[in-house]
Amino acid sequence: MDSISLTRPDDFHLHLRDGAALASVVGDSARQFARAVVMPNLKVPVTTVDQAEAYRRRILAALPAGSDFQALMTLYLSDNTATGEISRLVEHEHIVAVKYYPAGATTNAEHAVSTVEKVYAVLEKMSELSVPLLVHGEVTDAGIDIFDRERVFIERVLAPLMQRFTQLRIVLEHITTKEAVDFVRQGPDTLAATITPQHLVYNRNALFQSGIRPHYYCLPVLKREVHRQALLDVLSSGHARFFLGSDSAPHARGDKESACGCAGIYSAHNAIEIYAGVFDELGKLDQLEAFASHNGADFYGMARNTGQITLQKTDWTVPTTLPFADTEMIPFNAGEICHWKLMTL
Ligand code: DOR
Ligand code: ZN
Repeated sequence: MDSISLTRPDDFHLHLRDGAALASVVGDSARQFARAVVMPNLKVPVTTVDQAEAYRRRILAALPAGSDFQALMTLYLSDNTATGEISRLVEHEHIVAVKYYPAGATTNAEHAVSTVEKVYAVLEKMSELSVPLLVHGEVTDAGIDIFDRERVFIERVLAPLMQRFTQLRIVLEHITTKEAVDFVRQGPDTLAATITPQHLVYNRNALFQSGIRPHYYCLPVLKREVHRQALLDVLSSGHARFFLGSDSAPHARGDKESACGCAGIYSAHNAIEIYAGVFDELGKLDQLEAFASHNGADFYGMARNTGQITLQKTDWTVPTTLPFADTEMIPFNAGEICHWKLMTL
C-alpha cells in the first residue's frame, strides 16, 4: 500500500506549553489531528476549571487562521483539588479529564499528588460523574530503579486503586512495559492506555548510542527491547483499548542539552507519519485508523471525527531543528528520513 486515507485522527496526550512556545507548536498538531487532549502541567499548573478555560482560549487564539482544531482540556490533580471543581466539569464540555501525576514524577509535577489517599474523595466524585482519570504511572520512590517505576506503580498504586474505585475510568498514559500491556489487556473495559511514537520506535539503547543522547530522554524512560516488542504486539493485535497519545513534549534545545536535561520528546511535527511507519513495518496499516481515529474517541465517549486525512508512502527528511519560542528545539528523528507523508488537502 502506497497511500492510505483514514478518518481524521486525535492525539489523546499532548503537551502544548504556553505563550510563545505554544504559538510555535500548536500548528503542528492542528495540521494532523482534529482534536487533542492537552496536558495541564504548565509552570503554574492548570488546577481549576477557570484556568483550563483560560488556557483553552489561549490555545485557540494561537491556532493558524481557519483551523478547526479542538483543544480538549484536563485538570491537574493535587492534594488540594476540591470535589466541587470536579462537579463543575459536567458543565464544561471541553474539559474532559483529570491528570494524576505522582508528585515529582516529571516536568512541573512537584505540585501534584503526594499520596493517592489524599485524593480519594475527588476520585469518588470522578467515578460518580464518569470523568476519566489520566495516569502518569510511575512511582517516584528513589529506592526504585528508574526502569522499574512503571511496573511498581501498577502493583502498588494502580491495582489497589482500581479495586477501590471499580467504576472509575482510567487511561494509563504513555505505557512502556510488557507489564503495562498485560495489565491493560487483562483489565476491565474501564481501563485503557495510550502509546507514544518513541516507545514504539526505540528501546533504551537509543539513549546511549555512542554517547549520551538527551533528545531521546523522556519519562517514562525508554525500556528494553522486550518491552518495545510487547507494545508492538498489542498494536498488531488491534486491541480497542489502546490508542494514540503522542506525549509530544517540547523543550528548548538548551534545556535538553544540559547537565540535567529535561524529559520530553517533540513528536508533534510528524507524529501521525511516524505511527504510519510503525504500522506499515508491522504489515498492519489497515489497523492504523482504529488506533489513531476510533479507539480513543470510543473510550472517551466522544463522536468519531468526520473528514479524512491521506498519507502517502514517500521519503522526506525531518528538519534538524525547529523554531521554539525565541530559540529552537530538536524534533523526533531530526535529520532522518521519514517514510510516510501527510498530504495537504
Ligand atoms: O517526557 C516527558 N515530558 N514526560 C512527561 O511525563 C512530561 C513531559 C513534559 O511535560 O515535558
Ligand atoms: Zn505527557
